[in-house]
Amino acid sequence: MDPITFNLDGEQVVITDHSPTTTALQWLRGAQRKTGTKEGCAEGDCGACTIAILDHDAHGGPSWRSINSCLVLVPMLHGRTVVTVEGLKTDGELHPVQDAMVRHMGSQCGYCTPGVVMTMFEGCYRKDLDADWKVDDQMCGTLCRCTGYRPIRDAALETKGLRPDDRFAALEFSSPVPRDLTYVAAGQRYFQPSSTAALFDVLATNEDARIVCGMTDLGLDVTKKHVAFPCLVSLEAIPELRQMTHTDGVWRIGATVPLSEVEDRVQDGLIPLARMLRYFGARQIKNRATVGGNLCTASPIGDLAPALLALGATVVVLGAEGERRVPLSEFFLEYRKTALQPGEILAAVEVPDVPAGARCATYKVSKRRELDISAVSAGLYVMVDDGTVTEARLAFGGMAATPARATSAEQAMVGQPWTHDTVEAAVACLATEFTPFSDHRGTAWYRTTVAQNLLRGFYEETHTVRQPSLAYRHTGTVLTEAGA
Ligand SMILES: Cc1cc2nc3c(=O)[nH]c(=O)nc-3n(C[C@H](O)[C@H](O)[C@H](O)COP(=O)(O)OP(=O)(O)OC[C@H]3O[C@@H](n4cnc5c(N)ncnc54)[C@H](O)[C@@H]3O)c2cc1C
Ligand code: FES
Ligand code: FES
Repeated sequence: MDPITFNLDGEQVVITDHSPTTTALQWLRGAQRKTGTKEGCAEGDCGACTIAILDHDAHGGPSWRSINSCLVLVPMLHGRTVVTVEGLKTDGELHPVQDAMVRHMGSQCGYCTPGVVMTMFEGCYRKDLDADWKVDDQMCGTLCRCTGYRPIRDAALETKGLRPDDRFAALEFSSPVPRDLTYVAAGQRYFQPSSTAALFDVLATNEDARIVCGMTDLGLDVTKKHVAFPCLVSLEAIPELRQMTHTDGVWRIGATVPLSEVEDRVQDGLIPLARMLRYFGARQIKNRATVGGNLCTASPIGDLAPALLALGATVVVLGAEGERRVPLSEFFLEYRKTALQPGEILAAVEVPDVPAGARCATYKVSKRRELDISAVSAGLYVMVDDGTVTEARLAFGGMAATPARATSAEQAMVGQPWTHDTVEAAVACLATEFTPFSDHRGTAWYRTTVAQNLLRGFYEETHTVRQPSLAYRHTGTVLTEAGA
């Protein structure tokens, strides 16, 4: 058995006796008495618990990433470099993000402040915060109940990309690669193998093993249902699962690549996926959440499935005997059940480029724009050749027990002219294609109507731009120049 070791605020720590399902937040506040890091919701929604770890940027280089410590287990920090709000001062001097928060009066009761500061800390060292929407995206995972967001945003704007020549910048030259770990404590096992061979050995000898990656979904079982998983097996330290390539017109996205990295890399290449990722969770969530985790939850309201179904994605499944490929349209079998067999993992997703003549867009409809769960989401794709629809993939989330394609609506389109009448024929099919449930996010009628209107909107929206990206809509509390 190995101890868990990592660098915390400049000091090396060793852990041997905490249950592997102890969250980093519980450990920081309990064992370390680092109570600067706060707990608000314990489910990734408020950002009060934000800390930073050294991880990869979109080009594989080391980079600071803000994460929710309430959804990270202590063994997941093994081998990492971790900074909390209490490690930011240097020689008694505030870090520039703390200083900016003070000068802009970005704090009142101060409960959210450590999380806000740590979120800004990532922004301070990012090289790519070059657009307003990226600043919104950086900050949208932190809730402040009393200050109001304008002063906070002003401080974030002042410090974004500042990259002071300090010890945190120097740390960016160290390696952020997660390391091999076998950890046992409190009767629970945690494995973090660093090769697929070692992974399948662990899976063969631990029948109760549960795969984990970013923990942004499974973490809620720990913090809300108090599940003490007897055996967790993390995929994070296996290098080949963490690779993302674009070769011969196909994107291969490794199962464990964090969504923020995916989002950064597909901005200009896979616009419909980037568009869906814009309103997926918050930066802290996307810095941990993965494509593999999103698809393997088989959630009917998972946002990536409709986008990837529309894009014609294929899932690469890996087992001890080797690899097999499954079209994503055959991956979801029933509510929360996938085509993975025991002992298999999702290794990667392959997504072809959108062909030049195709129209494709993604939509997420939720009660709140940022950091909310979809009522309905959609990924819509049509290929139009000489005015006629030759191929259609209309995929929806929130409409059935699994993410699903609207096959009868698709059939109503193929072979028909790409016209308003054809779209209305498909819209009519959508009235009976699904039998969505009613819940607090929307009634069955509402969901069906939204799905129909999304299809109509897709037709209108793709007249001029075939793969529309999102126009920037500033947040309500942003001051604009007089007359702007
Ligand atoms: C605050 C918050 C906001 C969120 N917002 C969104 C949102 O906007 N849209 C959305 O769709 N989801 C959202 N989620 C849900 C979650 O973040 C995503 O589903 C995420 O992609 C899960 O990835 P993960 O790596 O964290 O999965 P984990 O939690 O590590 O795992 C999830 C499940 O998948 C299995 N698993 C993981 N990886 C693999 C693999 N490679 N092979 C086989 N099994 C695997 C695990 O055993 C587990 O059952 C949100 C969650 C939170 C807490
Ligand atoms: S405590 Fe709210 S996001 Fe972690
Ligand atoms: S300062 Fe009170 S919650 Fe933000």
